[in-house]
Amino acid sequence: MRQLRVFETVARRLSYTRAAEELHLSQPAVSMQVRQLEDEIGLPLFERLGKRILLTEAGQEVQHYSLAVNRSLREMEEVLESLKGVGRGRLQIAVASTVNYFAPRLLAVFQQRYPGIGLRLDVTNRETLVQLLESNSVDLVLMGVPPKGIDVESEVFMENPLVVIAPPDHPLAVERRIPMPRLAEEVFVMREPGSGTRQAMERFFSEHGLTIRHGMQMTRNEAVKQAVRSGLGLSVVSLHTIELELETRRLVTLEVEGFPDLRQWHLVYRRGKRLSPVARAFRNFVIAEAATIAAPTLFRRENP
Ligand code: PGA
Repeated sequence: MRQLRVFETVARRLSYTRAAEELHLSQPAVSMQVRQLEDEIGLPLFERLGKRILLTEAGQEVQHYSLAVNRSLREMEEVLESLKGVGRGRLQIAVASTVNYFAPRLLAVFQQRYPGIGLRLDVTNRETLVQLLESNSVDLVLMGVPPKGIDVESEVFMENPLVVIAPPDHPLAVERRIPMPRLAEEVFVMREPGSGTRQAMERFFSEHGLTIRHGMQMTRNEAVKQAVRSGLGLSVVSLHTIELELETRRLVTLEVEGFPDLRQWHLVYRRGKRLSPVARAFRNFVIAEAATIAAPTLFRRENP
């Protein structure tokens, strides 16, 4: 069972490294599980093509059956979880890296109410969240825009204001009502293409017919903030990520026309998924209370 689960992840991600990340295992452990399965079957399941790996014909067959086995196993887990009730269940949630700026606060309150539950939190970018939903590997996902092309239920639970950030000594920091086209003169530090924040930023500028200059690309909000602080460019980030920096005046938000761009956070799960009692309790909690517990308190203009 374990080998099939590992195999299914490698086959889906077509990468030992990414599968290891998703499974929270080391890469050698993942390779070993696949090798043992290949030994038992007596056929290679993957072949190498340069740096890439591909499924062999046997691999494709095993993938077909392992998907069905994994689906049944998950259904069994869901049924067993539902028998445990809310007090002792296990909850697996995955959140966008940006959501992780407030998710621990939500989980702390939830865990206080239900001390007996086991929690697992995966933090990753939008692209990987979509894959986790596709493979039905988690109970609930907290993310920006729900994915298209997968049959999901999604519910809004809080606003996500996107703001333009700059170092406090930036010339625009003292300006009021900055016209949006003025941004075309600046360079923007970008998140990676799989990021929901980046997609929202690109959509916003293209909706307003504005082409911005891309500067460095970073895979973490923390790296983007450091880059902006160091004068490498402006950026657009969720207000949730910069509460501390605004408080300590390490960054400022710019008063650009059209900003804050008010997006929304969604709670998402596969349509038809049998939510366990603990997953349902968490869903109800997030919808009813997330905004009170986790909305950014510091949305104020930093410039006199
Ligand atoms: P990100 O997520 O951390 O991938 O940018 C934000 C989102 O889903 O909108």
